[in-house]
Amino acid sequence: MWTYNIIGLLALSELGHAVPFSSKIHKNTALAIIDVQNDFINGSLGSPRASAILPKIYQLLDNHEWPFIFASQDWHPLDHVSFASSHPGDVAGDSVNESFVDTPTKVETQALYADHCVPETWGAEIERGVQTRLHSLEGYRTPVNYIKKAQDHRVDSYSAFADNQYHRFTTLHSELGLHGIETLVVTGLITNACVRGTSIDGVKLGYEVVLIEDATETLSAEIKAAAIAELEGWGVQVLNLTDWESANPTPAKLRRRREL
Ligand SMILES: *[C@@H]1O[C@H](CO)[C@@H](O)[C@H](O)[C@H]1NC(C)=O
Ligand SMILES: *[C@@H]1O[C@H](CO)[C@@H](O)[C@H](O)[C@H]1NC(C)=O
Ligand SMILES: *[C@@H]1O[C@H](CO)[C@@H](O)[C@H](O)[C@H]1NC(C)=O
Repeated sequence: MWTYNIIGLLALSELGHAVPFSSKIHKNTALAIIDVQNDFINGSLGSPRASAILPKIYQLLDNHEWPFIFASQDWHPLDHVSFASSHPGDVAGDSVNESFVDTPTKVETQALYADHCVPETWGAEIERGVQTRLHSLEGYRTPVNYIKKAQDHRVDSYSAFADNQYHRFTTLHSELGLHGIETLVVTGLITNACVRGTSIDGVKLGYEVVLIEDATETLSAEIKAAAIAELEGWGVQVLNLTDWESANPTPAKLRRRREL
């Protein structure tokens, strides 16, 4: 019946009438764009695998209507704990044991990286094609929220919801609540770090989490497969964009299908 009504509306649209397509917005669902920043694509922590996800994210922005979108960004001060340059004698790839910010008796192992995603640098900026699309949507068709995470130099933050010690939460969970969001469609970089952290926290906080597997990447197919297997264990649904779109058609998608 619903399908029949949509087809009816499409027929009207072809006659040139205005049609309220916004009613077919992906209800209670937010698009999550995790750390699609230049440094993770071809900057200081770049990977030749990363840019393949960009057309998938463009498609999710161009052909779908969302009640809410959020884009996270690593946003590290220069002396950040995750930078090898903050630890004399250590190099990228090493790790260090750091006391918890609020519990000195607890220790966590922090991986060390080249400097990355420093505010106001090119590397910290969201990839141009994604950023241009977000600018055209934000506050005009869709609320867009930017999460600048890991600003505390003492503790890293893979998740867009909270730092790795749950010392401090971002505004994300309350923003999602304000917009009635129940489902997160997750994309971005990199699968085994910030995508993993955000997805797991999403599950912990009670969201249904869907990971679009061809809209996320990391350093190798093996690392990606291991991260996806772990996320499936947490209850994250993992599927490719084609399969997700088939299950969640938009008016634009239906229109194209009819024309074929
Ligand atoms: C990264 O890729 C962009 C887009 O393809 C290009 O404009 C830029 O020059 C590249 N930068 C580096 C450091 O490779
Ligand atoms: C960090 O602590 C773990 C567990 O105690 C230990 O195995 C590891 O060697 C320590 N790493 C460093 C760099 O001290
Ligand atoms: C998407 O996944 C399905 C399996 O569920 C597979 O048959 C299909 O080829 C995949 N499509 C793409 C574009 O990867």
